[in-house]
Amino acid sequence: MGLRHLAIIMDGNGRWAQARGLPRTEGHRAGGETVRRVLGYCRDAGIRYLTLYAFSVENWKRPAAEVGALMRLLVAHLAGEEPLLHEHRVRLRVMGRREDLPPEVDAALARVERATEAYERQLIVCLSYGGRTEIAHAARALARLAAQGEIDPESIDEAAVARHLYLPDVPDPDLIIRTSGELRLSNFLLWQASYAELYVTPTLWPDFSEADFRAALDAFARRSRRYGGI
Ligand code: IPE
Ligand code: IPE
Ligand code: MG
Repeated sequence: MGLRHLAIIMDGNGRWAQARGLPRTEGHRAGGETVRRVLGYCRDAGIRYLTLYAFSVENWKRPAAEVGALMRLLVAHLAGEEPLLHEHRVRLRVMGRREDLPPEVDAALARVERATEAYERQLIVCLSYGGRTEIAHAARALARLAAQGEIDPESIDEAAVARHLYLPDVPDPDLIIRTSGELRLSNFLLWQASYAELYVTPTLWPDFSEADFRAALDAFARRSRRYGGI
């Protein structure tokens, strides 16, 4: 089976900056450049879905100055990268608690989503995203339908839950890469990751290179995915 959906936990921007005596926000700026490059690698590798973990529900705990800088960078990048999305024919989709985003950020995202919605390849950006939050969102939707008598609670199976996740039409990730060496999911795609292959590299996200990308894909190609079978 090929690699249809790649998901990345882009971690290590802060440490990259600190190692250079720079403010953390410079790491986020450099990380934005990595996103540009990775879009190109994914196009060349024929990857259909790329999901990027950009900001978690837990990341709101960070100092307001860092959160503000991240939000400003997001808008700047989106505006700057819209031509790139058209050039690569990539559809932008946002996944997460959009209602938490500053209105101007939400508006900028919505505009680019609309402008690119006809493209088949997808770039999914997780913003104010939490895996548990997403599952709770699905549970609420199902409870509402049950309360309205539209579904029988006994009929709720895995497929029903999956249909009420944020982007039900997107297949589960085949491979999840985490940079910066941390061995955890940090609340990323908890439902969808059940049979994803995991790959962790010590490389910090701003330094993530084409060689790192190749190494991850090569490792994936050597994995034997059994899904519980033999
Ligand atoms: C990842 O880099 C980007 C976000 C979580 C927004 P970090 O900012 O977490 O960088 P480190 O982990 O502190 O180095
Ligand atoms: C995970 O990174 C979230 C994103 C990459 C957006 P964190 O830096 O927030 O995760 P922890 O705190 O190390 O688990
Ligand atoms: Mg981190």
